[in-house]
Amino acid sequence: MTAPIRENLSGLDLRAEIDRLRKERNAVILAHYYQKPEIQDLADFVGDSLELSRKAADTDADVIAFCGVKFMAETAKILSPEKIVILPDMDAGCSLEDSCPPEQFKRFREAHPDHIALTYINCSAAVKALSDIIVTSSSAETIISQIPPEQKIIFGPDRHLGGYMNRKFGRDMLLWPGVCIVHEAFSETELLKLKAQHPNAPVAAHPECPPYIVDHADYVGSTSGILQFAKTFEGDTLIVATEPHIIHQMELAIPEKNFIGAPGADGNCNCNICPYMALNTMEKLYIALRDLSPRIEMDEELRLGARKSLDRMLEMASGTIGKGDLGQR
Ligand code: 13P
Ligand code: SF4
Repeated sequence: MTAPIRENLSGLDLRAEIDRLRKERNAVILAHYYQKPEIQDLADFVGDSLELSRKAADTDADVIAFCGVKFMAETAKILSPEKIVILPDMDAGCSLEDSCPPEQFKRFREAHPDHIALTYINCSAAVKALSDIIVTSSSAETIISQIPPEQKIIFGPDRHLGGYMNRKFGRDMLLWPGVCIVHEAFSETELLKLKAQHPNAPVAAHPECPPYIVDHADYVGSTSGILQFAKTFEGDTLIVATEPHIIHQMELAIPEKNFIGAPGADGNCNCNICPYMALNTMEKLYIALRDLSPRIEMDEELRLGARKSLDRMLEMASGTIGKGDLGQR
């Protein structure tokens, strides 16, 4: 469990204090679309995993305050080792990362010596170091289309993203059996009830969703892809099958349209809030900027190992503009 905040911050204007510290520290605040609206609103940049990696690699700030989960902050450190990278809550993990312990992944690789390892960015630095190429949901299509069809591939840790790409590209990548607990929690029965209530509303789904959700989607793509779809679809209502905090950006960009989060089994979408992303709060961001802690530290040999597979992604995805994604079904 995360340690509670022991100091009394109730008299502070947190937004003003964060702004002051951001300037004093020459810090950039990067936030994922799954962060709480108040954090998205003060961030210097809000994006998907690929866009955030690129920002982390390019920034001239001295400090990167990463409002996302640990594997994302680690990616920032791998790409910008000279920067101080802080994460408001070090317990902000990911079920996909947890599903793939490095020693088990190493054995999986060793059991398939003729396969390359194409690995989703939602994994530890140690698993990145054991991989050949990293992908995000934005860059997966571009990267996989550059790998010759006869090349055997193991894909981890998200079996739903890997399975979706297998179906879309007619590949038979060997899949690691990990899942995202957030996307796994959508209910097909409840989604069909919602579709019946809104027969003209398209469904946009993240490829981390199981096939029984993706099969009902009109659009499948990364968070930035889904946001782009929300800005361009015809109609007035969109059903969104990904973590519901992204709806904040949709409501800012297109306030006249109606965005409904796809439901979980209990008929509402609270179970689809990522519990790891939700650990970051304004209070913890303020403390992290003030104390420059919790800080991501990494052994240099591990960092260099992980960097190779990330660099391959950045090179191979260089044609992708961040909203490039798996696209229309
Ligand atoms: P993208 O933002 O790259 O689509 O990834 C979603 C995700 O699971 C972040 O944890
Ligand atoms: Fe991990 Fe899923 Fe949360 Fe993304 S939404 S950080 S994949 S648990």
